Amino acid sequence: MRRRHLFTLAAAGAVSAGCGSDDAPPKAQASPSEARTPPANPPARAFPKGFGWGAATSAYQIEGAVKEDGRGPSVWDVFSHQKGRTKGGDTGDVAADHYHRFYEDLDIMKDLGLKTYRFSISWSRVLPTGRGTVNAKGLDFYHKLVDGLLARGIAPVATLFHWDTPQALQEQGGWENRDCAKWFAEYASTVFYSFGDKVPTWLTLNEPKTVVDAGYTSGIHAPGKRDRRIGNVAGHHLLLGHGLAVQAYRATGAKGRIGPALNLSPAYPADDSAAARKHATALDAEENRRWLDPVLKGSYPQDWLATQAADAPVRGAIQDGDLAVIGSRSDVLAVQYYNPAYVTAKGARVKKHKTSQASWQEIYPEGLYDLLTRIKRDYGDIPLTITENGMPTTNALQDQDRITFLRDHLTAAHRAIQEGVKLESYHVWSLLDNFEWAEGFSQRWGIVHVDYETQTRSRKASYGWYKSVITNNGL
Ligand code: FCB
Repeated sequence: MRRRHLFTLAAAGAVSAGCGSDDAPPKAQASPSEARTPPANPPARAFPKGFGWGAATSAYQIEGAVKEDGRGPSVWDVFSHQKGRTKGGDTGDVAADHYHRFYEDLDIMKDLGLKTYRFSISWSRVLPTGRGTVNAKGLDFYHKLVDGLLARGIAPVATLFHWDTPQALQEQGGWENRDCAKWFAEYASTVFYSFGDKVPTWLTLNEPKTVVDAGYTSGIHAPGKRDRRIGNVAGHHLLLGHGLAVQAYRATGAKGRIGPALNLSPAYPADDSAAARKHATALDAEENRRWLDPVLKGSYPQDWLATQAADAPVRGAIQDGDLAVIGSRSDVLAVQYYNPAYVTAKGARVKKHKTSQASWQEIYPEGLYDLLTRIKRDYGDIPLTITENGMPTTNALQDQDRITFLRDHLTAAHRAIQEGVKLESYHVWSLLDNFEWAEGFSQRWGIVHVDYETQTRSRKASYGWYKSVITNNGL
């Protein structure tokens, strides 16, 4: 539950991996990738043939054009315009202006050699009030994007909900309202019928855990509530929405795949004591099993349920039959990995590794190996995709720290593949610098630099590095 919580731990003073001077991007320059010659020898770590090298973004973080072509407001439009909610008062009004520049961005993806691209669809662009009338122009934008991807040989991976609940639905309680699960499935169904088999992979929810933690506990994300008990109700309804959307997908008869995108953190005891180990089991329930078990086993973990007070509203929210819906067969599990989770004998969360400019992050590549192999061990061989992994850096173009990060995590992923994990693809977060929620534009997560004054895109060193990894299908 500590994702994006303000840490009050010793870790707050941990070393930042992302320090560096802000070297302004030169005006016009050859992409670092052009300067590299691919090595003559095969890579030391070859990935399986056809491995899906990808990159990820989300609608509110890059699109801008929030009032164009009939789009309705989402909770993030409202939240980011409230005083003090985001750093510098930044909003996604313009963001990376992707709505107007997506053809340029598609060409960048093609140049990079991407095999797969994960983006999200803005619910309120498609259904301005969340339900009812469809905004044809909104759907049309995503059709052009998807067609552009397919024309460039890039497989689209579409997320249906990346935190941007339509404001009109929030006014009816949003995810606290059980009906929101049904509204989500109706929206999903509209999109499924519109796209048919053009989109081979669908992701229902992005990181429901973060919605509970940041949206409903610390309140640093939209809708900015601070009530974890209610947040857990929202969390259950999100899962229900996932299950109903999976069922809606099956009902269309489409042949693609669908699953959730979960941010997971392997939980470890901070020391060898029995007490720390016990806390780590509880932490694992909160961070991982509480999301994985309902989706993949159709049940909440008993030890997690036991932590919910007898009068906790989530107990009433879980109705007969819900778990069967939530456990409707997913075809793919999307994993997002940014940090492990450590807990002491006293039950305090601590960090043991360096962080980045994102103070909640903890850089531990081995955690990715542990996570992937653990999923195989405990949940079987469901195909896996990594839909987010990355770090923010403060240097504009010479982001060597990001290269190190990506290399180390891909090495860990490679080792998991060698041991039989069915990892099919990897999407770096993110393709472009973008609006990083409460952090506004202060954190740059892209392998492509965006100058927000001019909207000029410049390739970072990590872009060139990743391009050669893709070319060589390994590192
Ligand atoms: C993830 C979010 C994504 C981005 C990265 C840094 O939790 O899904 O939108 O903010 O963190």
